[in-house]
Amino acid sequence: MDANKHMKKAVKSYFNRAVKAYHAKVKKILIRYPEMLWIAAEEIPRRAKNILDLGAGGGNFTTEVIKRFPKAKITLFDFSKEMLDYARKRFRGKRNIHYVEGDLLKLDLGEKYDAAVSSMAIHHLSTKEKGKLFRRIYAILNKGGIFVNADYVRGETKSRDRDYDRHWIGHLKAQGLSRKAWRSVVRRHHHHDLPDRLSVQLDLLKRAGFKHVDCIWKIGHQAVFGGRK
Ligand SMILES: C[S@@+](CC[C@H](N)C(=O)[O-])C[C@H]1O[C@@H](n2cnc3c(N)ncnc32)[C@H](O)[C@@H]1O
Repeated sequence: MDANKHMKKAVKSYFNRAVKAYHAKVKKILIRYPEMLWIAAEEIPRRAKNILDLGAGGGNFTTEVIKRFPKAKITLFDFSKEMLDYARKRFRGKRNIHYVEGDLLKLDLGEKYDAAVSSMAIHHLSTKEKGKLFRRIYAILNKGGIFVNADYVRGETKSRDRDYDRHWIGHLKAQGLSRKAWRSVVRRHHHHDLPDRLSVQLDLLKRAGFKHVDCIWKIGHQAVFGGRK
């Protein structure tokens, strides 16, 4: 099995196993996570009727989307059945919410969307895979549709990356994580995640055809960015 496939299998198995642990700790681990999701959801045009959440997991971002678009058709796409099951329980009874189990790299749902959104998922893909996904997203958006991504990014320089790690560790300590716990979070990020520099991702979006590409919000390693078709 090649390294990429091996990594993908490891990510899927991690999220299938860690549903509860992920939801218990994500708000502590990420800096200003609710604000990040709030600002990302604000990007979705008011007229949106068909919205796709990529790497939706247990539906943290979807919750923010539903608040604004209670009647829109919202599709949660993820390759972890366990994460989607968490969302199914969370949104039980909502008939406008749909679930699709699949790999982001084989995204082919046969319909068009007014908005594609994603939070904390695309950093699991390599640079090449991100480019491929951005092109695919562009293809499935309606004209005027938007893509917004709230995700980890790498610093523009190694020195910046070190600064952001320092800010992040300060945040994790302030949240009450023990030395063992914060070290494990940071180590996991460095060994398993594949964030790219923001400038690289903005360029990939432009190359995929997106217009009005920009970063809307950023704090250290976390950014909200996207573009319009
Ligand atoms: C950190 S969670 C984020 C979930 C949710 N968006 C949130 O903000 O809480 C990352 C999600 O991306 C999904 N994921 C990672 N790589 C994927 C891939 N190649 N295809 C589909 N889903 C993927 C994982 O299964 C997981 O549910």
